[in-house]
Amino acid sequence: MDKNRKDWWKEAVIYQIYPKSFQDTNGDGFGDLPGIIEHLDYLQNLGVDAIWLSPIYASPQKDNGYDISDYQAIDPRFGTMEDFERLVSEADKRGISIIMDLVLNHTSDQHKWFQEARKSKDNPYHDYYVWRDGEEGTPPNEMQAVFGGPAWTYVPELGQYYFNIFSPYQPDLNWDNPKVRQELYDMIRFWKDKGVGGFRLDVIDMVGKEPDKQIASNGSRLHEYIQELSSEVFQDGNLVTVGETPGVTVETARKFSNPDGSEFSMVFQFEHMGIDQEDDKEKWDLKPLDLRELKQIMARWQEGLEGTGWNSLYLDNHDQPRIVSRWGNDGQYRTESAKMLATMLYGMKGTPYIYQGEELGMTNIELPIDQYDDLEIRNVYEERLKSGYSEDQVMESIYAKGRDNARTPMQWTDGTNAGFTDGTPWLPVNPNYVEINAEAEVADPASVYNYYKKLIALRREYKVFETGTFRLVEPYSEELFAYTRDSDKDGHLLVVCNFSDHHQDMPRIELFEGQEVLISNYEDPIGRLRPYEARIVYVPAD
Ligand code: GLC
Ligand code: CA
Repeated sequence: MDKNRKDWWKEAVIYQIYPKSFQDTNGDGFGDLPGIIEHLDYLQNLGVDAIWLSPIYASPQKDNGYDISDYQAIDPRFGTMEDFERLVSEADKRGISIIMDLVLNHTSDQHKWFQEARKSKDNPYHDYYVWRDGEEGTPPNEMQAVFGGPAWTYVPELGQYYFNIFSPYQPDLNWDNPKVRQELYDMIRFWKDKGVGGFRLDVIDMVGKEPDKQIASNGSRLHEYIQELSSEVFQDGNLVTVGETPGVTVETARKFSNPDGSEFSMVFQFEHMGIDQEDDKEKWDLKPLDLRELKQIMARWQEGLEGTGWNSLYLDNHDQPRIVSRWGNDGQYRTESAKMLATMLYGMKGTPYIYQGEELGMTNIELPIDQYDDLEIRNVYEERLKSGYSEDQVMESIYAKGRDNARTPMQWTDGTNAGFTDGTPWLPVNPNYVEINAEAEVADPASVYNYYKKLIALRREYKVFETGTFRLVEPYSEELFAYTRDSDKDGHLLVVCNFSDHHQDMPRIELFEGQEVLISNYEDPIGRLRPYEARIVYVPAD
């Protein structure tokens, strides 16, 4: 791929690594940077163009690195700055760019800035964070932290509360202070100088917060801040930038991913991640998947950004349960449904993201409560038991939605600890590694891995994957997800996915009758669709 092309990321596939769970090389049970270097050939073989690294900066790891104590140091658990530089250059040799995770909304409470800030009201760093006067026991308002408890934490020596939208370990930075913004830009320049290819921006739609109005996302100065950030540090490099924006709508996404490049390349939206959650409730309040709702949401994003923005395409990440357990069938049809879900997503317009292990069809895990690590899981367990839920109800939600489902170690081989570590893994390995592991899948032409590889290659070969306009077919079907992609210049695609475990008829569209099937998760893709069958049919431009 030509990374000098300004919009190279439109043809790219990005692979997300959760470093803590990828590969341990020194037996301490934590994945590390040398472990990532060991597997670059695996990633090159898969065909990815960039790696997004979840945070590897110095951190007390209260939220697995999303609590940074030094933005310009590598956490010793992950390795050294030399390891990082080696990673960038080894990846580059294989045509792979490194994308860093920027957590700009908050720091760790152990960051030097916060340590200074809490010393006194006239400390030069005090105003780097968000403080309000108050008395113990009476926080400024009712705002709640994402990981439980109030969004305000009292510091008795100051007679003030600080604002923390995630947890008390993660005090929010004060973006209204121009000094804070300049410090962050300098830090970003430091990483650019190391040759990184882009950035993923953690909860970036929260930086314009207005806590006095109880506004967390989409504050009134948000786009002003983002445009400043973009013009200060992004626009002079050929970078890919993706904002994580839990509060985004199609309308605001057009701003965030404006083709004029004034903000980001694209953003992560969350609407399709909320389908299995009861309306106006929390993610723990479960609701079965309604395929019509999924289709409607995906279609709205595809159509809504056509020509006016750019979509990111994802089903899995380190905050979500495993997609094959969520919308697929992780028992009898695990392989078929994992491939079907990939087809559904990769046929669309946008930049696809693979989360480590997704390309193997890795599944959810069920653990006893004391073996979970995630602070969100531990907090919701306590909170829900206190408020009267039964143990079974709470565990059912955690099994379905807990973030540790995605964070169990990468399954490399059928050997001890799935080849992840010689020591004790920081989080248990899913026992199904004996069947589901990279070594077996790379060798098996019919594996989920080799299906992803083929899909990625097709996206490269057929330009219509990048350019074709999306249109939903049979929108009311409850079991079939079908759509077309059309480009006068590059041809036409029909993507058909059976989300059920029984047979379905193919939609009849004259243009595609009897035409070439580019890829399918079954052999002989003709006639009716079998359980979880997926096909992509191609017609060249005339
Ligand atoms: C984002 C991250 C998540 C983290 C949170 C706070 O949502 O993806 O893992 O806990 O921000 O930084
Ligand atoms: Ca290690």
